[in-house]
Amino acid sequence: MIGESAITSRDAGDPLAHFREAFLRPEGIIYLDGHSLGMMPVATQTVIQNVLSKQWGHDLIQSWNRHDWIGAPARIAGKLAALIGANPHEVMVADSTSINLYKLIVGACLARPERRVILAAEGDFPTDLYMIHGALKALSGDRELKLVPRAALNDALTPDVALLVLTQVDYRSSEVAEMEALCSRARALGVLTLWDISHSAGAVPVSLNKAGADLAVGCCYKYLNGGPGAPAYVFVAERWHGEIVSPLQGWMGHAAPFAFEAGYRPASGVANFQCGTPPILSLLALEVGIDLARQADVAAMAEKARGLGDLFIELTAPHCQKFGVSLASPAAGEMRGGHVALRFPAGYALSQALIARGVIGDFREPDFLRFGFSPLTLTYGEVAKAANIFNETIEKRAWDNPVFRRRALVT
Ligand SMILES: Cc1ncc(COP(=O)(O)O)c(C=O)c1O
Repeated sequence: MIGESAITSRDAGDPLAHFREAFLRPEGIIYLDGHSLGMMPVATQTVIQNVLSKQWGHDLIQSWNRHDWIGAPARIAGKLAALIGANPHEVMVADSTSINLYKLIVGACLARPERRVILAAEGDFPTDLYMIHGALKALSGDRELKLVPRAALNDALTPDVALLVLTQVDYRSSEVAEMEALCSRARALGVLTLWDISHSAGAVPVSLNKAGADLAVGCCYKYLNGGPGAPAYVFVAERWHGEIVSPLQGWMGHAAPFAFEAGYRPASGVANFQCGTPPILSLLALEVGIDLARQADVAAMAEKARGLGDLFIELTAPHCQKFGVSLASPAAGEMRGGHVALRFPAGYALSQALIARGVIGDFREPDFLRFGFSPLTLTYGEVAKAANIFNETIEKRAWDNPVFRRRALVT
């Protein structure tokens, strides 16, 4: 078992250690929920205060031009592109991940009218599957959703499939899909691929173009620290520009929004995936998070997330084995995303008991506890401390208290 001095020396040699100071860190907690809502950068307060007082508060509507509010979605998307292995002109920041899924699912199906199947993984993130069902209702024809276990996706890629929709990192188990292999087989069969990389960006290396991905979406409020409900992004590989277009024909996706033409003309490239007026306050808060992540080396972030997860697994494994907790994530770091999932029958109560002791993780049905290892905000020392608290809580059955079984709306 790794000793205290080894943990201290890991922190001393951590090339990302200085990023910690860039985040607001409330006293008395160890925050292991960056996979759900990332911490707030200190600079976000100043930026938003400035936008409120000097821009909206003073320059009012002139800010759209004077402070380039109108250019914010494309500018921020251009910065984000470097973090996901895309070119700046292939990414747009807009709407939520759910809405972006809808735009791309419908856009892709309309570009493949002769194929009737959408392929996805059983148990994938609910919104992805809900949006597919919704899109199928809106699309004409006898299209259908085919669900198979993640491990069977490769074999289920057949020439009648129009589109594969898949989260790269499974939101429960944290298992990482083989993006490059799936893209390569899909491409050979003429199947389009749509990746949800919400749990990837900022935690695992993502190279959309290198892998040959066609389309992608993702959240910015997780490892990118963009703030609650931060706008999401769309990626459309250049080869599909003009062919896969957004079905939501809002004026901000028009080629000339301020020409107020009677008819819709889509903006070229990925720009037509904008729809309505961009949420400036949220966008400018998001830009702070993206700017911070861009200062860090993507490979170093992935390596640290993995290292922190490995440490947590190592330090909790003996207690897990003894007290009926099972590891639901791959033990091998390279197969795992930024979080580690454990399963325990009283998982919700255990997660609440940990929160009561300052270790903030989250819970997903039916019995998954998730602990996220955000590489910019955590130290190895904190993770070791969290593991100790976990071990004590499980050993003393501190979770076995009716208070911890009371369900909140958000888990
Ligand atoms: C994999 C994945 N996709 C989509 C979403 C939801 O996206 P949104 O609520 O921004 O539409 C989440 C939220 O946690 C997620 O984990």
